[in-house]
Amino acid sequence: MNRLHVGVLGTGSALPERVLTNADLEKMVDTSDEWIVSRTGIRERRIADAQTASSDLSVEAARKAIIDAGISVEDIGLVICATVTPDYMFPATACLVQERLGIKKTGAFDLSAGCSGFLYGLACAVPMIQSGMAKYALVIGVDTLSKITDYTDRNTCVLFGDGAGAVVLGPVPEGRGFLGFDLGADGSGGEQLMMAAGGSRNPATQESVLNRQHTIAMNGKEVFKFAVRVMNTATEEVLRKVGLEKTDVDFLVPHQANIRIIDYARERLGLPEDKVVVNLDRYGNMSSASIPVALDEAHRMGKFKEGDLLLLVGFGAGLTWGAAALRW
Ligand code: ACO
Repeated sequence: MNRLHVGVLGTGSALPERVLTNADLEKMVDTSDEWIVSRTGIRERRIADAQTASSDLSVEAARKAIIDAGISVEDIGLVICATVTPDYMFPATACLVQERLGIKKTGAFDLSAGCSGFLYGLACAVPMIQSGMAKYALVIGVDTLSKITDYTDRNTCVLFGDGAGAVVLGPVPEGRGFLGFDLGADGSGGEQLMMAAGGSRNPATQESVLNRQHTIAMNGKEVFKFAVRVMNTATEEVLRKVGLEKTDVDFLVPHQANIRIIDYARERLGLPEDKVVVNLDRYGNMSSASIPVALDEAHRMGKFKEGDLLLLVGFGAGLTWGAAALRW
């Protein structure tokens, strides 16, 4: 039986209006623009206001992706929302988005794979479309990390921003679309990057709030080392699986955590700077939204041409990683 080819039919993104600059952060914690730019590459990030939750940004991004795909909302047969900052523990943000957009009563679920979440979402949706379960799927990467960031902790608060990116996936001609994926997780590193309270291990208490256990705790050095390693191995592995070489890659669309991590990955692939999509200078690390927002902006700027080979790669809490080879 011929395998159905599934690709990206449309993209969209949504960013809060409020900009938090390095100069603003200098007034909040003991840091400097020079430190942040030289160690991370980040200059500013977007921060959602108190009324804006992950579903609000998701709905806006999804609407744009559906219009870009040229399909109607009724055609969507699956909604996957990758996030670690859902509106609620439950119901899933994907269900809220389904309802707000008027999508029919299809499968809709959230998945938690940290900053690798969008890649995990793609890797779930593609075979579900190939199996005939849905013709078109909406995959959203959204995070409002500002809601769980401790703005007294300079080790983390300079890094994160809010945003959402969405894609519509569906059938594409042979030779195009997703060629393969590599997903992985190493649960032994789970404690390197976590929000310790609010789940069944440490339910919310007054003490947990006072101890700031509902905010991101991260061992930056360990995550950095892990990231550099897996960005390299995941890209090599996905290329091996699809039978292609580093020299075949036209664009790298990496998770946007730190320019030094991106530069290592770029150098290992032997790509020039203009073949890597970077937006972390303007948005910081938006977790699952980083890759789909980068994809959307590059697509709307007309960066990719038909047939280009894109490598999407990311890492995050879990610790997890993921890579996808996509023929545009
Ligand atoms: N301003 C000034 N100084 C700072 C700041 C800051 N914002 N943050 C840390 N420092 C200090 C540290 O306290 C340390 O001081 P010390 O030597 O006196 O102890 C010094 O700078 C150096 O700290 P390092 O940790 O060595 O700095 P490093 O070069 O490793 O950069 C960073 C830190 C940017 C966090 C880096 O380790 C990194 O990017 N790690 C990966 C993080 C990541 O990718 N997370 C993604 C996952 S997000 C998710 O899944 C939700």
